Amino acid sequence: MHRPVDQWIYNQDTINWNLKMADQKATNVTWHDGEVSREDRFSILRQRAATIWFTGLSGSGKSTIAVALERALYGIGKLSYRLDGDNVRLGINKNLGFSGADRKENIRRIGEVAKLFGDAGVIALSSFISPYKDDRDEVRELHEQAGIAFVEVFVDCSLAEAEKRDPKGLYKKARAGEIKNFTGIDDPYEAPTNPEIHLKTDEMSIEQEVQIVLDHLQENGFIIDQPLTRADDLAVAGASS
Ligand SMILES: Nc1ncnc2c1ncn2[C@@H]1O[C@H](COP(=O)(O)OP(=O)(O)OP(=O)(O)O)[C@@H](O)[C@H]1O
Ligand SMILES: [Mg+2]
Repeated sequence: MHRPVDQWIYNQDTINWNLKMADQKATNVTWHDGEVSREDRFSILRQRAATIWFTGLSGSGKSTIAVALERALYGIGKLSYRLDGDNVRLGINKNLGFSGADRKENIRRIGEVAKLFGDAGVIALSSFISPYKDDRDEVRELHEQAGIAFVEVFVDCSLAEAEKRDPKGLYKKARAGEIKNFTGIDDPYEAPTNPEIHLKTDEMSIEQEVQIVLDHLQENGFIIDQPLTRADDLAVAGASS
């Protein structure tokens, strides 16, 4: 198959750019350790960090669930922070579009940001369509290497229902050809095969969905009720020196 030359150049450039972005560019760079550990931060916050990675079609309910979960966590005194598609695309990822390469770089950067939040002790709630399995697996691996929990939540909703909801009017635009590469319409969504949590949002209520995620966090030790001692030890040692 022949492609127009300008498209080939664009694709090749995008691929090269993407490869370059993901590579380590600077040399002679060394991680500088601090004296307050991740466990110390967990202790202050009385929680263990995790990245809750919501993935699913546009309109499936990722942002809605993340907002409700953030509120519920706040209600029990736990610190979370939402990383949401459009918010991030208006800031750190404002130079990225929706081509395959840009989507990949978008997810890679979010993964790195979520990892930093996790290292800080925060429960990161990320809501991105993140349609490609490889990209999600890369973020999972990034977290595993860093020793931060990655909880993939499949926000599962039929295309018909998501399209009926169409909260941002995007499906309508995609059907009219005004938006290209729209997931579910002219771009694929690769459903998770083994997510930690599977929410069927065309069958469950938002309250049920939030409870399922909260139960997972509780059952897997992310919510700590009693203070740990290490942070206190450090504070005392600091005061007496
Ligand atoms: N059980 C449910 N869980 C979540 N959302 C639901 C549910 N039932 C109905 N909804 C509605 O579906 C819509 C989901 O929209 P939302 O913006 O959360 O989707 P999204 O997955 O974040 O989409 P996008 O990828 O475009 O940001 C909201 O209007 C919400 O009120
Ligand atoms: Mg959203």
